[in-house]
Amino acid sequence: MTTISADTLPDALGASARAFISQTHRLLIGEERLEAADGQTFTTLDPSSGLAIAEVAQAGAEDVARAVAAAREAFSSGPWSTMPASGRERLMLALAAAIEERAEEFAQIESLDNGKPVGLAQYVDVNGAVGHLRYFAGWPTKIEGSVLPVTAPDMLCYTRREAVGVCAQIVPWNFPLLMTAWKLGPALAAGCTIVLKPAEQTPLSALRLGELALEVGFPPGVLNVLTGDGSTGAALVDHPDVDKIAFTGSTAVGREIGAKAGKALKRVTLELGGKSPNVILPDADVAAAIKGSFQAIYFNSGQACNAGSRLFVPAERYDEVMGALAEAAGAARLGPGLDPDTQLGPLVSAEQQERVMGYIDAGRAEGAEVLAGGSSTLADSGGYFVAPTLFSTTSDELRISREEIFGPVLVASPYDTLEEVAERANAGEYGLAAGVWTRDVSSAHRLAAMLRAGSVYINTWGAVDPSAPFGGFKSSGIGREHGHDGLDAYLETKTVWSAL
Ligand code: NAI
Ligand code: MG
Repeated sequence: MTTISADTLPDALGASARAFISQTHRLLIGEERLEAADGQTFTTLDPSSGLAIAEVAQAGAEDVARAVAAAREAFSSGPWSTMPASGRERLMLALAAAIEERAEEFAQIESLDNGKPVGLAQYVDVNGAVGHLRYFAGWPTKIEGSVLPVTAPDMLCYTRREAVGVCAQIVPWNFPLLMTAWKLGPALAAGCTIVLKPAEQTPLSALRLGELALEVGFPPGVLNVLTGDGSTGAALVDHPDVDKIAFTGSTAVGREIGAKAGKALKRVTLELGGKSPNVILPDADVAAAIKGSFQAIYFNSGQACNAGSRLFVPAERYDEVMGALAEAAGAARLGPGLDPDTQLGPLVSAEQQERVMGYIDAGRAEGAEVLAGGSSTLADSGGYFVAPTLFSTTSDELRISREEIFGPVLVASPYDTLEEVAERANAGEYGLAAGVWTRDVSSAHRLAAMLRAGSVYINTWGAVDPSAPFGGFKSSGIGREHGHDGLDAYLETKTVWSAL
């Protein structure tokens, strides 16, 4: 066990984030804060220094069983099961307000645990989480069934939309609080209960959110938080009393969870990897396209499922675009997330840094040309930094052109025609997002229809809103989050027949 104290945490941390991070981090089961049954813990690190920041309980199968039982109890009896829709709305709004009041604290916790710039954490992660909870707080009072025009006479037939039940929600480390809010919003709105498992790299913000949920008055057992690694997640997926699984993470683990859910006939939504093509058309506003394409890949140090990691540029504009992108990548300021001047933080872990460096080495070995970056950097800091990297290749067959890298690595290629680029953009196994830069309305929408992706961005990248469905075609996932579609994933339809 590592010795950690409030004094060893970075100076930039405010008093409330410091106080939270330096406390003992136990599991949240019902209304209890418990050590893992077997006493196991793990260490979470500051990715910008590699130093330990907190020791956290590592939940095992026994803890999973307890948390699922607490969630079942809250679902089937107790105040949550009979709470009117307006009560759920009020609690969700109170939770959103409690997070908003502590926006700075949450942003600092997230920045230190994940490495991301604190301004990004506040604007994207914290504000996004608050907005998401507020949007979904509007839903409980609007969930309606319908009366059906059945043929049989003297028969009343209607539907009820009912909560799916106990949900296992497994989130990744790239937007820890935001992905948590994406999962909690529709589940709470529908009236489900939850066992949430944050990623082992970034467990802290979910624990803080869990304790706030109890403080604002959520009945115990509605939200349980189990910290732990993939083995905790797997035990949760395997538990027979879980009705639905929602997962965001790697395609490999998503396939495994999908297979298990299929076998057990549990409801499942999967939000998985991507290799999203970003297409600049010849008539685009090139300055805007360059700026947008830079953000599309290097935002959050490339650790975004919908990163624009594959760039297609018209052959005649190729050198100009590559020159500008390489210059911008070379000028990016890397540093610790808590430093307000930092543009790009470190990667989340040594493992992720190695994975990304492995791809960079493979790209070089397979013959792609490095136009910017191409190495790890700031080694003296002890952090997991990778320089923003730009590859150029004419091949679509390289590992770096096909596989998700999940780091600050852009792979660019020239193309000649619209039909050619649409075919190349659609060739991979993924289908999460795609982008088009053009001033021509008809090519924009023609290409938007041709691209096989769950989201298409025209003259922008990564736009997101709680009302707008988000999810993947092909190996990028199953189901959609956000909006009606997102809510539907947490509801069953019951058809009631009544002879009159
Ligand atoms: P991962 O898929 O292993 O982890 C994501 C979450 O799943 C974590 O909470 C983890 O503890 C949990 N988990 C791991 N194995 C599990 C299992 N067998 N059953 C249930 N839960 C399990 O992803 P990892 O290893 O952190 O990152 C590997 C790659 O995955 C990244 O390089 C990236 O390509 C991709 N990834 C994609 C994300 C996305 O937003 N779509 C987010 C995170 C990673
Ligand atoms: Mg960490």
